[in-house]
Amino acid sequence: MTRQELLRVLLVGFMGSGKTSVGRDLADRLGWRFVDFDEAIELKESRSVANIFAAEGEFYFRQVEEHVADHLLSERCVVLASGGGWAVKPGRLAAVPKGTATFWLRVSIEKALERASSEPGRRPLFEQHDALDSTRQLLIERVPYYQKAQWTVDTEDSAIEDVSAQILEILTEEYTRAVGE
Ligand code: S3P
Repeated sequence: MTRQELLRVLLVGFMGSGKTSVGRDLADRLGWRFVDFDEAIELKESRSVANIFAAEGEFYFRQVEEHVADHLLSERCVVLASGGGWAVKPGRLAAVPKGTATFWLRVSIEKALERASSEPGRRPLFEQHDALDSTRQLLIERVPYYQKAQWTVDTEDSAIEDVSAQILEILTEEYTRAVGE
């Protein structure tokens, strides 16, 4: 993918992997817009993700999420942070529109829980999987889907700025490779 062909960056990964913070920083550096799927869903529904889960259940949330994501994935010059469950569907990452660079932000379960504990009540699925083992199981089930992203970046012990700098480096390498083809 050359620089001209790159239209958007999509971040996927588990809750607490840093998608929103990294996405915001990356968008600033690129001079692009940043949109978080969950925030777009909350805007559309005029209620929080936790409220949607409580009032309508997960199935309804996933339908709204799919609709919002399809729309956002048609936008240009945008960095997108998906919700942790969006990529978890067969064929989903393979079907992203052309011009989308996809990154899996990888994190351990311990670190994800540590980060999530600073925002209690915001993530209904963390509350449903309150034991470490059950959350670990959820992450294990999801890894094969996250792995379908084009690139993987570890966010375990890295500062937000270091993760976005690494993503920019990967993209620059990719432009160079694509031009040389
Ligand atoms: C979810 C992750 C959340 C949010 C919802 C479901 C998931 O987003 O979409 O609570 O299934 O992992 P974050 O990954 O931004 O926390």
